Formats: sequence, C-alpha cells, structure tokens
Amino acid sequence: MLDKNFLWGTATASYQCEGGWNEGGRVPSLWDEYLHKNNLENGDNASDHYHRYKEDIRLMKEGGHKAYRFSLAWPRIIKNREGDVNQEGIQFYHNIIDECLKNGIEPFVTLFHWDLPQYWEDKGGWAEREVCDAFVRYAQVCFEEYGNKVTFWSTFNEPRYYVFSGYKIGNYPPGVDDTQKTIQASFYMMLANALTVRLFREMKMDGQIGIVHSYAPIFGVDNSLETKIAMRKADNYFNNWILDTAIKGEIPIDMLSILNEKYDLCFMKVEDFEAIKQNTVDFVGLNYYARALIKPYTDGETILRINNKGKEAKGSSKVVVKGWFEQVFDNPDSTYTEWDTEIYPQGLYEGIMQAYKKYGIPIYITENGVAFYEDVSGEKSVDDQGRIHFLNAHIDAILRAIEDGADVLGYFIWSTMDLYSWKNGHEKRYGLVGIDFENNFERKPKSSFYWYKKVCESNGATIERS
Ligand code: BG6
Repeated sequence: MLDKNFLWGTATASYQCEGGWNEGGRVPSLWDEYLHKNNLENGDNASDHYHRYKEDIRLMKEGGHKAYRFSLAWPRIIKNREGDVNQEGIQFYHNIIDECLKNGIEPFVTLFHWDLPQYWEDKGGWAEREVCDAFVRYAQVCFEEYGNKVTFWSTFNEPRYYVFSGYKIGNYPPGVDDTQKTIQASFYMMLANALTVRLFREMKMDGQIGIVHSYAPIFGVDNSLETKIAMRKADNYFNNWILDTAIKGEIPIDMLSILNEKYDLCFMKVEDFEAIKQNTVDFVGLNYYARALIKPYTDGETILRINNKGKEAKGSSKVVVKGWFEQVFDNPDSTYTEWDTEIYPQGLYEGIMQAYKKYGIPIYITENGVAFYEDVSGEKSVDDQGRIHFLNAHIDAILRAIEDGADVLGYFIWSTMDLYSWKNGHEKRYGLVGIDFENNFERKPKSSFYWYKKVCESNGATIERS
C-alpha cells in the first residue's frame, strides 16, 4: 500500500507555459533573445498560464492532483545584474503559491528551469563564475519570500540537458559547440547547486532541497568488457557528474582525469570542491523519458544530433562520443516516438533500483510523459489512449520499485497542460489538458486527465498491474 502522503502531481516550467514574456516587469531571458533573433517559434504567449493560472490550478484540483511542480522565472524576479527585485514578479509567484495552497496542492518549486536572464548571458552565462554567485543571491530572495509557504525546493532542472544542448550540441541557446565552456558551465552549475544548498541550511529553511536530473539509466547491448567500459563512460556523460556530485559531493574522478588530458580545469578551486563535498541535497528528482542503450565506440568524430523536428526527421537522432561510446536508436525490439524517444518503462524500474541502491536518498519522479501530435481543435476532447497506456506502464514500474524497497515519494507527469516544447515548438504535445493555441488558449482536458484523476484519488490503486 502506497504511503498516503505520496505526491501525485504534474509539472511545467515558467518559460514553457507562462507567456506574458514582457509583462509585469519581466526582463528578457536568453530564450527570448535567441528565439526572437533567429526568428524561431517562441514562448511569448506559451500556454498563457500567466493570465490563466487560476483556471489551471482549479483544473489540477478537479484532476485530483496533490502537488504542482513549476519553476520560478529568474527574469521575472530580478531586474538586473545589480540584483534589484521586481515586486510584480515576486507577487505573481505569491499568487500561484497561494492559489495552490488554497486548493490543497503542494507547491514543488524549481529555482531554475533554463530561463537565464539575458543580462547574465551577455556576461558569458553559466560558463562564468559571476553567474554562479548571482544565482545564489537570487535563491536567497526566493527563500526569503516564499520560504514560509514552500516545503519542496529544487535548485536546477536538468543541468546536464541545459549545458549540453546550449554549449555542446548547440541546438539551444547560446547555440555553440565549445567543450571547454561545456565543462565550465557544468562545473559552475554544480557549484551553484552546492552553494545554494549551503545557504538553505544557513538560513535554517523549514523544508527540503534537491536537484532534478534528466535521468538516462544505462543499458548495454551485450555483456562484453568493451561494452561495460563504454557503459561506465556513458554513465559519467549522462548521469554521474550530476548525481554523484549533488548527492555524494564527488565529481567522478575517472571523468575528470580524462577531461584533464585535453582541457583546462584550473578554474576549479580547492574551496569549490570542499563546498561541493559538504553541501549535498536532501532528495533527488529524476526526470525519466527513456533509457540510454549503449554500445562501444567504433570510429569517427563526435556526433550529437537530436531530432527536434518530429516525424519529418524520424530516425535522424545520433549520439557518438569519440573514444567513449555510441548510443543505439534503432533497436529492432523497441518502439520510438516521432521524436526518436524510445518507449521503455522497464528502464524506469531498473533506473530507480540502481539509483536507490547507489545513493539511498528519497527519490521523486519529477517528470515522465510522452509527446504526440494531437488535434485539439474539435468539440470532443482528445482520446489519448496511447498516453494512458504509457503512463500506466511507467507508474506500474514505479510501484514495483517501491515494493522492492526504493524510497520513491512522488510522481509528476510532464506536463500539466500542452505547452511550448523548446525547439520542438508547440506541436509536440505532452499535456493532460489540451490547449487550443489557435483559439484563445482554450483548455480541453484529454481522456488521460480523467484517467489520472482516478489514479490520484485512489492513491495508485486503479493502476493495472503487470
Ligand atoms: C525535460 C525538460 O528535458 O523534458 C522539459 O525538463 C522538457 O523542459 C521535457 O520540455 C520534454 O522535452 P522536449 O524537448 O520534448 O520538450
């Protein structure tokens, strides 16, 4: 029997759902600048949550949710590099938090879900130490404002995904391929995580603080020694440098020594390692979309190609890290979405078991969901049986992991409603609630919304077990 306090919820992120990009004193983030400048589909209006948050939270309540995971937008809260506070932005999140509490919904707050203020990107973004310190000051403002209302805090959403996409793959802003900067930005985000945890403890905050990671549990194509070596390198690349660093306070030493051969690591200071060692998180949030199936590296240059175009580019994803490993995207026994994401619920069970065995701290599944093309324009709501099937199988995997001893305390579906899916635009729909972007952002709950309501209200008892 699942604990009665298990947090059933859904998740969003500020830039992806709020809209109101230039309202209420919000200043531009690096996403605004990059998307506007390159004339790309943007989140100027997103799901219009900025104006409709009351309706959205009412729907969460109707849908039986116990928690809502969302992020605060740094560019709404802090106006400039001097750290001046924007009271309108502060008030906006008080309103959201108050609305949640009024409706019996636990706010599960992320401090950074990728919308760095452009004024900091202008200074070199996360590749610079200055930004790390500025983040801690921003966190302090948030703790002081909302600390008496919020229990669950996460420093970062998916630092690995953010850094690799922006600094190595180049499909997110700032859109470069620069390994030295990738290493710097990675390090400074993990340092900022530790310094924020330290602040949280110094301020004697009444709550818990964690980090959210884009978890890709590692599987090998066979049991050979070459595959095992490739799997270790892939685990460092995908997972360990976030999880070991945030939870154990240790950056994987084999990874650092390989990087040290070619790159300058002198910017990492002894006192930074100390801070990382001493300030580890209370819980970990794992976002699970798919496992990473790994084979040994054979030849050729590094290729990191992500399908952000959906069906027109299906099968185009490729990940080869020179000298380290290759990722398999065409396993004949698997099914893949139109965006090349493998559907593999067993990976969630095994991933949780591995993480719990290795780290032994409470786990929240902070994102899990599946994207489809869906037509939400009609009168009838979308009957998304494929999503229901996907979610049932993944929740079943979590329940199995809990039965086998893992300490999983909550589950959040990505996403609460359809929203802006970064470089994939709005067409890639994840929501339990459909949004008719063409028609005044009308909210239209899908079949999965009603299905999930029963799951939340029965505390998981309606899940069909395998
Ligand atoms: C996670 C992010 O990586 O996955 C979300 O935390 C994101 O912000 C989600 O939207 C799904 O990814 P995508 O690229 O399909 O939107």
